[in-house]
Amino acid sequence: MNKTLDQLYREHKGRLSDKWSLYLTEYDRLFTVYRNQPVQLLEIGVQNGGSLEIWDQYFPNARKIIGCDINPSCAALQYRSSRIAVVTGDANSDEYQNEILQYAPTFDIIIDDGSHDSSDIVRSFARYFPCLSETGIYVAEDLHCSYWDNFEGGLHQPLSAMSFFKRLTDILNHEHWRNGRAGKELLAGFCDEFGVDFDELELARIHSIEFLNSLCVIKKGSPENNALGKRFIVGNEELVSSGVKKYDGSSIHDFEVQIKDDKDLDVFALIRRNRELAQEKERVVQALNLELSEIYASRAWRVVQWLRRIRLMVSRMERLALTLKKKISGLLQTLINHDRPIQLNPYRKIKQKLDLKKNLLLINSSGLFDKEWYLANNSDVALSKKDAASHYLLHGGFEGRDPGSEFSSRQYLDNNQDVKEAHVNPLVHYLTKGMAEGRGKFPSQKINDQSKRS
Ligand SMILES: C[S@@+](CC[C@H](N)C(=O)[O-])C[C@H]1O[C@@H](n2cnc3c(N)ncnc32)[C@H](O)[C@@H]1O
Repeated sequence: MNKTLDQLYREHKGRLSDKWSLYLTEYDRLFTVYRNQPVQLLEIGVQNGGSLEIWDQYFPNARKIIGCDINPSCAALQYRSSRIAVVTGDANSDEYQNEILQYAPTFDIIIDDGSHDSSDIVRSFARYFPCLSETGIYVAEDLHCSYWDNFEGGLHQPLSAMSFFKRLTDILNHEHWRNGRAGKELLAGFCDEFGVDFDELELARIHSIEFLNSLCVIKKGSPENNALGKRFIVGNEELVSSGVKKYDGSSIHDFEVQIKDDKDLDVFALIRRNRELAQEKERVVQALNLELSEIYASRAWRVVQWLRRIRLMVSRMERLALTLKKKISGLLQTLINHDRPIQLNPYRKIKQKLDLKKNLLLINSSGLFDKEWYLANNSDVALSKKDAASHYLLHGGFEGRDPGSEFSSRQYLDNNQDVKEAHVNPLVHYLTKGMAEGRGKFPSQKINDQSKRS
C-alpha cells in the first residue's frame, strides 16, 4: 500500500524539505494517476534537497527526478538513488535548460518552487510548459508571493504571476473570443516586459487551470481534447423547453454571436496608451517651448517689448493710484467722523505725560503750590479725589484757580496775554520764564479757611 505524501513528509528524516501542508494533500489527489508510472519529474528550486528524496520514494517507478537550483552549493548534494540528478544553475537560462533536457526531454510533472518572483514564474512557464508531456501537469507553488511587492507582485499588479495565470484561463476559452485575435496577444504585456514568447499551439494545449490557495495547477492535453466539441443532446421528451433536440451534433461555431471590439480596454492597451499620451505630451511641450523661444528671439517681439513694458508700468501705476485714492478717502472719512483731534503723532501723548511729571515736580518744590489750600478752596476737586497738583496743572491754572495763597493765576494771565494765548499754565510759566524775565506775581484774592480763622 502506497504511503500518502503527508505520511512520507511526516516520516522523513533525511535532507530538509519545505512545503505547506495543503500542498501535500492536494498533490496526493493530483498525482494519483502518475503514482506508479515511470514519471519524469522536474522541480525548480532544490535548496536542501529533501523534496527530491521524498519524490523518489513517492514515485516508486519514477524514471527521472531532476532538480534545478541556482545556488551553486546545491552541486554538493549527492543522492544514493541514481534516478535523482541536480542541475546547478539558473533554470531560466538556455544553458541550464539544455542541461536539464539532457536528463529528460519531456517531463510528466513540473513543479516551480524557485525564486517565486513573478518574472521568474512567467519565464519558467514560457520555457518549460512546452517541455511537459502531452498529459503532463505543471504546478506553480507559493503564489501568495504574487501579492507581495518584494516578489514583483500586488493585488492589482497586471504583471504579477497570478495575473498571468488568470489570463491563461481566457486563453483556455480562446475559441469563443471570435475576434480574430491570437491567444498569445493576451500575454503581450508579459512578453514585452519579461522578454518571453509563446507558441500558439502550446497555448492551445492548456487543458485545465486549477487555482488553490497559493497554487496554480495547469494540466496539458492535446488541442483536440481541449475544444468544446459537438453539442450532445440525448433523450426524446421535451416537456419544458422544446426545439432543443435539433441542435444535437451542432458546434458552438454554428451560432452567430455579437462581439464588441474592446481591445482598448485591456489593461496592457491602457498602459500602452498612457505611455503614448505621456510621450505625446512631452513632444507637444517641447514643440511649444521651441516656438516660444523662437518668438522671444524674433525681431517683432523685441520691437514691441517696450510697448509691453510701458503697458505693464501704466497698469501698475493705475493700481497704485487706486490704492492711494482708497487710502486718502479713508483718512478723510476718519477726519470728518472724529469729534476729537486725531492723534497723528504717537509720541505726543508720551511727551505730555513726561511734561506733566516734570511740571508736578516743579510746582510741588516751588513753595507756591499748597495742596491743602487748593483742596480747601476747590471743593469739587476735593470731592472728585483727583490729585490736586495734576488738576491745577491740567485745568485749574487755565481756569484762573490759584495754586496757593501766594499766587494769583487770573492776575498773571490777565497781565500776560502772551501766556494766555500760548495756553501755558500761569504758575509753570512764572517759574520757568516769568520770574527770570521780571514778570510780577500777585497773592491770591481768595482767603482760605485757615487765614479766616487766624
Ligand atoms: C523554496 S526553495 C526550494 C525548496 C524545495 N523545493 C523544497 O521543497 O524543500 C527555493 C529555491 O529556489 C532556488 N532558485 C531561485 N531562483 C532560481 C532559478 N532562477 N533557477 C533555479 N533555482 C532557483 C533558490 O536558490 C532556492 O534554493
